Amino acid sequence: MARVNQNFLKLEQSYLFTRVAQKVNAFAAQNPGRTIIRMGIGDVTLPLAPVVVEALHQGAREMGVKETFKGYGPEQGYAFVREAVAGYYKAEMGVEVAPDEILISDGAKSDVGNIVDLFDTDNTVLICDPVYPVYLDTNIMSGRRVVLMKAGSENGFLPMPDPAVRADLIYLCSPNNPTGAVYTREQLGEWVDYARKTGAIILFDAAYERFVQDPALPRSIFQIPGARECAIEFCSLSKTAGFTGLRCGYTVVPRELCATDASGNRVPLLPLWVRRQTTKFNGVSYVVQKAAAAVFGPQGLAQCDENLACYRQNAQIIRELMEEKGVEYYGGLHSPYIWMRCPGGMKSWDFFDRLLEEQAVVGTPGAGFGAAGEGFFRLTAFGTQEGTREAMDRMRALL
Ligand code: MLT
Repeated sequence: MARVNQNFLKLEQSYLFTRVAQKVNAFAAQNPGRTIIRMGIGDVTLPLAPVVVEALHQGAREMGVKETFKGYGPEQGYAFVREAVAGYYKAEMGVEVAPDEILISDGAKSDVGNIVDLFDTDNTVLICDPVYPVYLDTNIMSGRRVVLMKAGSENGFLPMPDPAVRADLIYLCSPNNPTGAVYTREQLGEWVDYARKTGAIILFDAAYERFVQDPALPRSIFQIPGARECAIEFCSLSKTAGFTGLRCGYTVVPRELCATDASGNRVPLLPLWVRRQTTKFNGVSYVVQKAAAAVFGPQGLAQCDENLACYRQNAQIIRELMEEKGVEYYGGLHSPYIWMRCPGGMKSWDFFDRLLEEQAVVGTPGAGFGAAGEGFFRLTAFGTQEGTREAMDRMRALL
């Protein structure tokens, strides 16, 4: 009889956002008259930018004409998107990355999950707690040893390297999901120094980079000198351009980045990632890549930023309630997430249940992101402005 991958049996029974959705669906079924305000999963609510929609139409028209029809495309993405992303890095962050170091995918979640294919299961992985569950779950699935580093009020939810802790792979996310905390250049510099000294590789999730409002704060790990020798960066159009339903992201693997083989020889990772993607992935649809390229044009960025400005206002509305009620909170300034302490010392799932049952407002319990998230609660600013205001009015009663 076939045997399962035993590691799957070590996972939580369901993925965090699946559990949240199940609870919300059950509540909705029992309370058909109640208007639920969803501030749980970070899903966008504003429509795509007009230039993106036009690019989708244009792509679809091209697919309907013999001369411009496209079948399989390059698994790594069309050159026009990879060049557009490289141009974005240069213009927005002053970072030089070559188009062939950028691989286009169906989103950062897939790439963050799939990158583990490149690394021996014998590696030790360093992960923050609380954390975006994908980093932890995918390493549990492949049976790697995981060391958790606590993020909490005492370090502003920004853990720093501990010379006593050895790890081969380090996951960092800034602006952070779930806490909204953002590393400074100096702090990321310490991580890069630590990785270079120990030979570790940083897997840097930059999915929320465009929410950073202070030019002094880094938006890419490659703004830090030396990062090309020790880091891979994952980025996404989900939150910054409203692609949660379209699906497109990109991963940057610098040409010089290496890990070692069993004999200690240095092996470049870019060809391995290309090998992995060409074998297991057939690329993002042409139409979606047309839309992605449109995001990086001047009109695209300006139009997408209009949506981001709305989400920032939502974050401000949430932060105002936190200030008014004297609630301890993090994030919401350079991030669409507000990470708040649950009132009255409540546990996070208890607060989730109470907020849902009494006020029909959905958030995400901190404990769902790890044990160190217990006692905290995440709200997203991706709702509508009306919904966010209404949710804060409803929450006022509970705080
Ligand atoms: C979140 O709510 O943490 C994100 O939307 C999840 C994701 O990006 O996969």
